[in-house]
Amino acid sequence: MAEFERIVILTGAGISAESGIDTFRSAGGLWEQHRVEDVATPEGFARDPHLVLNFYDMRRAALSKVEPNPAHEALARLEREFSGELLLVTQNVDDLHQRGGSGKVLHMHGELKSALCTSCEMRSRWEAPMLDRPPCPICRAPTLRPDVVWFGEMPYEMARIYHALETCDLFVSIGTSGAVYPAAGFVQEARANGARTLELNLEPSEGSRLFHETRLGPASQLVPQWVDEVLGG
Ligand code: OAD
Repeated sequence: MAEFERIVILTGAGISAESGIDTFRSAGGLWEQHRVEDVATPEGFARDPHLVLNFYDMRRAALSKVEPNPAHEALARLEREFSGELLLVTQNVDDLHQRGGSGKVLHMHGELKSALCTSCEMRSRWEAPMLDRPPCPICRAPTLRPDVVWFGEMPYEMARIYHALETCDLFVSIGTSGAVYPAAGFVQEARANGARTLELNLEPSEGSRLFHETRLGPASQLVPQWVDEVLGG
């Protein structure tokens, strides 16, 4: 593979699938088990906070039963050994990139292990359940919610991401269906600015035709292979 100096990587639920975390849109996936409007919108939370807090408490607790897979570990190796600039952006709210060894991960859709206080608007690291409405560690108000970006809300760090997309020479999308904007538009943004674009996914995604190249297969195989290529090993 040609030498690249500035790489932006976007990951989605597919990179964590082999670790045992359900994706959203597969058969039997999260959005078949739950209605998006109920558990992933501010309106759903206002209507039934108990249901929403319980949904995210369960997902947070489930993280202790899963482990990072070779795809997460390969991206951590890339971060350690790549001599150029690397920005790893994930849509995932799990912590498997960090536990796989990545030090710098931008969670554009928030994190299960973070709490957002609707009173003081501060974000705090959070491991415990929220269902019993514990106080915010900063302002003490019992108004914590999952620090997860819901439909209708603005993802985190968009300015930084778009800046990186404007200047990268390679954009790689891993394990995402390309169904949710703004992340689904990153490939066009990078390509319009001259970057090479590569997709690694189990099956063709909604956005496959937008990429210069698509490689199909499980992330645990494709990602380590691609990282080996980039690092020249
Ligand atoms: P999806 O569930 O929409 O898509 C997962 C993609 O991963 C699919 O294209 C699968 O083919 C692929 N996949 C499954 N197993 C794989 C494997 N072992 N290796 C490689 N690829 C695999 O999940 P996302 O694209 O991440 O947002 O969903 C995007 C956003 O929609 C999520 O962040 C979430 C959701 O609604 C919010 O909640 C705001």
